[in-house]
Formats: sequence, structure tokens, C-alpha cells
Amino acid sequence: MKPQLIATAAALLMAMPAAAQTGCRDFFASGAPRWEEPQDTIAALIEPDCYAWQLFVALNWPAVVDQKAPDSTKEFGDEGRVVWETWRNVRNGAPDTVFKMDGSDPGDWLDGVVPDTRLFSEFDDQTLQQIVASQGVFASIDDIAAEFFVNETRMSKASYEFTRANELYNIEGQLALFAAGTEKIDFPLEAKEVKAQWRVIEEADKPRYHWTNVTRLDGTTAIYGLTALHITTKDIPNWFWATFEHIDNRTPAAPTAENPNGAEGWLLPSIDRFACPTAPHDCEAPPSVGFETTKWANYVLRGTQIDFVDGRGNPTLLANSQPEQGFQETSSCITCHALATVGAGGDRLPFFATLPPASRQPVGQVGAPNPDWFRAPGAGDGNEGTLHYTQLDFVWSLMRAQSKQ
Ligand code: HEC
Repeated sequence: MKPQLIATAAALLMAMPAAAQTGCRDFFASGAPRWEEPQDTIAALIEPDCYAWQLFVALNWPAVVDQKAPDSTKEFGDEGRVVWETWRNVRNGAPDTVFKMDGSDPGDWLDGVVPDTRLFSEFDDQTLQQIVASQGVFASIDDIAAEFFVNETRMSKASYEFTRANELYNIEGQLALFAAGTEKIDFPLEAKEVKAQWRVIEEADKPRYHWTNVTRLDGTTAIYGLTALHITTKDIPNWFWATFEHIDNRTPAAPTAENPNGAEGWLLPSIDRFACPTAPHDCEAPPSVGFETTKWANYVLRGTQIDFVDGRGNPTLLANSQPEQGFQETSSCITCHALATVGAGGDRLPFFATLPPASRQPVGQVGAPNPDWFRAPGAGDGNEGTLHYTQLDFVWSLMRAQSKQ
């Protein structure tokens, strides 16, 4: 190397600030604001478990509800709606829905603000997968079960703006993509989505849960505690997948009159290399980053997923015992979500490998997607290779789109 080059390199090195933030661990060690929405592809790839916690803290930060923004004057763990609870709801009947019943434009991001008190119309009785799965192992979904667990799915601003700009909020907009021969769509790097599950808790449980009062259909009010939180972000091309559960889910629970499905407990190991630095990383405790005395310390990162297979080609698995109850051991977030599609007439690929015959467990697809899923079937029928489904960039809730009236 020429002397002046060495000098330049040395000068460059010296110019770098000694305490430059270099990753997710440093983020937690630094005093950087924890409520800012994270955007860090390198952390998602290299430190996925730490990044999952960075997202968890920012998205669960108390919110300024009508701004759909974090309230920087509040502490992590304060009561009230958190940031993701202000994002746009995918439920058709919700006041702030993305997918209106008449397929019309759902309006500006800040439209359709929901009040501080939660309404029952913001929630789903069951996840779509559980409804399909209920043909098999699950008890019939009666009203009591339906009100014991509730679900909700919400889109961040970037996800919402993309959905709106491309008219993905109605079936006609999605079919236009298919008609144009679009193989796949691409949400922007900033896109994020969450899916949450809540269940009825007792007054005495409140300090250990993120909870909310919900007015039910019969007018009575019940306390619901957050039991499960799925987070996905477009930081990487096939999305970054993380799932959190309340520690109370760990132990199986027998069915009761109020909850006829009972609880399976955790059937896959928890892996959190950030909170549990020692192999096998299954301490099931919160990371030591300062919120150990808050309600959020009762939530466990069950794991993250950034690829279909590991380095040896084994399918990667990840499940949350709540939304993935009944098929935890064949659950791969990234594979099932790769099936989110639209085809001719609004046809879509199914969630499960085979529909569960009565009395058998539903089977999730795992491992890498098969290109044949997306092409027209039938050898020798002249359709080989033609497009059968447009892939909707892993976003299943787009199937909620209604027809334009
Ligand atoms: C067997 C299929 C299947 C598996 C496995 C699965 N999901 Fe989903 N997921 C769905 C469906 C279907 C929806 C749409 C739910 C709705 O709109 O009610 C969904 C919705 C979501 C959403 C809301 C955004 C969207 O796509 O609409 C997130 C976030 C999410 N899932 C994360 C996860 C994570 C994290 C895992 C793994 C721990 C996972 N999912 C496993 C089928 C699956």
C-alpha cells in the first residue's frame, strides 16, 4: 500500500466515532429512543432475536391514539393502547378497517380513529386458520369459546399506504394484478404487520398482562389480556418473523366450560439468543434491558424465522401456541405465508397441506415453497408454466378484501 493510502485509511479509522452504534445490542446499551419504529435489515439478519425485542418494545410503546404514534412522554409499561393497537385493522366491520365491506377506498391513514375504550367489533372470534382447522381436531366454535379468545390483525402505515396505493383493498384490484400476469407483489422495506390474540383474564391477573376492557356484544364488559403477539416486517425480502407469548401459555390447560378448547402448552422449544445467551437459549425469561419490573417481563420470545430452511436444508419451524394451536409442530410462518395468493375469480391457495379430515390434526406446509404451487396444473394440458396464482407478498390478510360495490 502506498504511504498516502495508509495515511488516508488511518485518518478514516480515527474519524469513526469510538462509540458508533453498530448493532441491536448496542442499541439497547445506548440511550437511543426505544419508541422509534425500528428499520434495520442487518439486525434482522445477524441479530434476529435482539431485533425482535427492539420491535417488541417500540410497537408496544404507549401511543398517542389519534396520531397513531408513540407517546415519548410515557414509560414502557404504562397503561393504555400501544402503538400497534392504533394501526389499521383488517377486520371488515371494524371502525378503522382496511377492507371495507363495499370495497371502497378506506381513506387516509389517520381516518377511522378508534376510541380509547376497545370495542368488540375490533376483534375476530377466531383466526381464519382456526376456523378451517375447526373441521378437524377443534371443538365446534360456539359463542362462549368465541368470546373467550379474540384476535386482531393490524397493518402499519407503510403496509397500509402500499395496500391503498395499489388498490389491494378490494378483490377487483387484486384480480387486476393476476390478469396482468404479475407473479408477485412487493411491499416496501418499511412494511410491518402484527397479529394478536387476547383471552379473558381475572382482575387479579391485570398487573401481569397487557390488558384492556372490552364491551362484548351482550353489553357486558370483560377484561382481556394479551396472550400472543406475532410481528412481521419487510426488513428482508421474505419478511422477518417473530412471535411472543405470555408465560402463562407454557403449561397445558384442560378444557373448561368457558374455554372448551383448553390449551396445548408449548410444543416447540423457545429459542432466544438475546435474552438467553447460553445454548440452548431457552431460558424463557425477558432480556435484561430495563423492563424486568413491568408487565412486559411476562412475555417470552418463542423464536424468530428468517428463512424457509436452515443451512443443512432442514425446514425451520416456528409456532405460537395460541394462533397455531392444533398444528404447532408443523407450523412454519414463512412457508404458510408464502401461500398468500390470488388467482382467477379470487381463488386462493389453502393454508394447510391437506384439509384436516375429522379427528386428525391439520398439517402446515413447511420448508421451501414449490414453484408448481403458483403455476397451472396438469401435464400435457397446454397450461404448463402459465400463471395460476399471483403471490401477495406473504400478506394473508389481503384475502379479506371485498368486492367493489
Ligand atoms: C398455516 C398457516 C399459517 C401459519 C403457520 C402462520 N400463519 Fe400467520 N397468518 C395466516 C393467515 C391465514 C393469516 C390471516 C389472518 C386473518 O386475516 O385473520 C395470518 C396473519 C398473520 C399476520 C398478519 C399479517 C398478514 O399476513 O395478514 C401476521 C403478522 C402473522 N400471521 C404472523 C405469523 C407468524 C409470526 C407465524 C409463525 C409463528 C405465523 N403467522 C404462522 C396463516 C398462517
